[in-house]
Amino acid sequence: MKVLVLNGSPKREKSDTMHVTRAFLEGMNEAGPQEIHTVHVIDRHIEYCTGCFACMHNGGTCVHDDDMREILNEILDSDLLIWSFPLYAYGMPAPLKNLLDRTLPLSSMTMRKVGDRYAHVGQADVSKLRYLMICGCGFPNSKHNFEPAVAQFQLCFRSRRTVVTVPESPMFSAPEAAAVTGPRLELVKRAGKQYAESGEIDEALLAEIGSPMIPEEIYAAIVNGGV
Ligand SMILES: Cc1cc2nc3c(=O)[nH]c(=O)nc-3n(C[C@H](O)[C@H](O)[C@H](O)COP(=O)(O)O)c2cc1C
Repeated sequence: MKVLVLNGSPKREKSDTMHVTRAFLEGMNEAGPQEIHTVHVIDRHIEYCTGCFACMHNGGTCVHDDDMREILNEILDSDLLIWSFPLYAYGMPAPLKNLLDRTLPLSSMTMRKVGDRYAHVGQADVSKLRYLMICGCGFPNSKHNFEPAVAQFQLCFRSRRTVVTVPESPMFSAPEAAAVTGPRLELVKRAGKQYAESGEIDEALLAEIGSPMIPEEIYAAIVNGGV
């Protein structure tokens, strides 16, 4: 499978969330060799969308001639798009949101009703693409935290999409937390293998991965310097 990882953390490989993403990819590779390419979004030249809609009328060419042309081609050439990012203000970091805005050339202006809402009709063939969101965050709670980012992802990618969320993710970059992060990354690896084999991840496994690694009060006390 051709896998394109869009790393939305400005910390590049040092990203807490990328620990989770790498474990997931390791699991996928256990199922079979994958062709993986990672884009550190912060390093790419991606102008802001001007909102001119030219791309939606002219068959998909943006007025900006920047790195997004190459990234869009890579997206269309992939089987799986992994959006790996830390939660920022309950959403995705600005550079990655900018990239998401700039995927507009994949859609045409024509809108159609899908269930009880409207969506743009595509002007590129994305029928083989699957979408995975891997999101870490700094708080111990998932509720009242991940919902806006998850909702945005699910509205943007209506089918063939899976969401993995992991709270307390700064612990992945703390070697002293290995006793708890190690087993969690093993679960993520299992999820990656499952996903590569079946295209799905067991709901119970996703819930386990999305639960706090240590009790939230203890985590908060550590962050606050009280332990
Ligand atoms: C600007 C900013 C906004 C943040 N907003 C949230 C938030 O809304 N909820 C949360 O739980 N953590 C939030 N965090 C914490 C990060 O999600 C957390 O530190 C994460 O582990 C960073 O992951 P990374 O190393 O992959 O970039 C925020 C961090 C920054 C810098």
